[in-house]
Amino acid sequence: MQVEYFPAPPPPGPRDPRSLPHDAGLELDSIVSTAADLELPNFARTVDVLLGGSANFAVDREAAATLLRIDPLVEARVRANRAFVRRAVRYAHAQGIDQFLDLGCGIPSNQSVHGFVHAVNPAARVAYVDLDPVVVAHARELVAGTPEVSVTWGDLRAPDCVLAAPEIDGSLDPTRPIALLVCGVLHFVHDDVAALLRRWRDLLAPGSLIAATHAAPVHPRAAAVLDGTYSRGLAGLTTRSRRAIHEALQVVGPVVDVVDWPRGGAGGRYALDHLGAVGAV
Ligand SMILES: C[S@@+](CC[C@H](N)C(=O)[O-])C[C@H]1O[C@@H](n2cnc3c(N)ncnc32)[C@H](O)[C@@H]1O
Repeated sequence: MQVEYFPAPPPPGPRDPRSLPHDAGLELDSIVSTAADLELPNFARTVDVLLGGSANFAVDREAAATLLRIDPLVEARVRANRAFVRRAVRYAHAQGIDQFLDLGCGIPSNQSVHGFVHAVNPAARVAYVDLDPVVVAHARELVAGTPEVSVTWGDLRAPDCVLAAPEIDGSLDPTRPIALLVCGVLHFVHDDVAALLRRWRDLLAPGSLIAATHAAPVHPRAAAVLDGTYSRGLAGLTTRSRRAIHEALQVVGPVVDVVDWPRGGAGGRYALDHLGAVGAV
């Protein structure tokens, strides 16, 4: 049993690292209006359902119910992931960071990153980036009237291009530390994530942080469920081991189950097959 999502999966494999979707001649408005008939659920809106948000439609709620039947841990995983993001935001704030770049942001409705950030520093800047035009359209509506928050339609696999996008260039100062959030998204990147994160690190000022969460298959059955469930909608899911995630992130602390960060040890449990870590730049 699978859930088919809109939009169609982005093509796997290398993309031109200098281009944003706009540069490829794609128009956000026309793509979003194609989705307006709501015949297909959207993955990020389905995550919104699981988080208790209201930026979703009947078709997404049906998809969430199907997902829960296939993978009963999915709601706990999504919620634990968000709780990790909130703790990582607070950690970054405690380090004096007031700029946040959220790659693969999903829909910032319930439990949004800008909500977490502005609860501790209302003046902090938050730049959201997502590849899914439907997510970008929803996100822009949700943050309208909040000048500290921007939304960019972009691909995290094109770091230089994302940082040069006008919305980000105009709001974040790359010469000062940035908290880079790559949560729940790197497993949709099938290329060399270590090289990708190296490039991101090179672009960030010293004192920056990278907070990541990542699907890690520990139980073969869980891996099969994850691959089967998500392969149609998101061009497959590449799970990685704790060690691979550790190497890619070059973290100082251990890579632990999201529910255990920051206190868990490296040998800790895999309660949800979903790992989290924060690395220093
Ligand atoms: C599971 S959601 C994660 C949302 C949020 N970051 C969180 O942790 O709850 C994954 C999001 O990543 C986006 N995404 C997937 N590949 C991407 C890419 N190459 N660049 C930017 N966003 C991407 C998807 O469109 C989706 O909205």
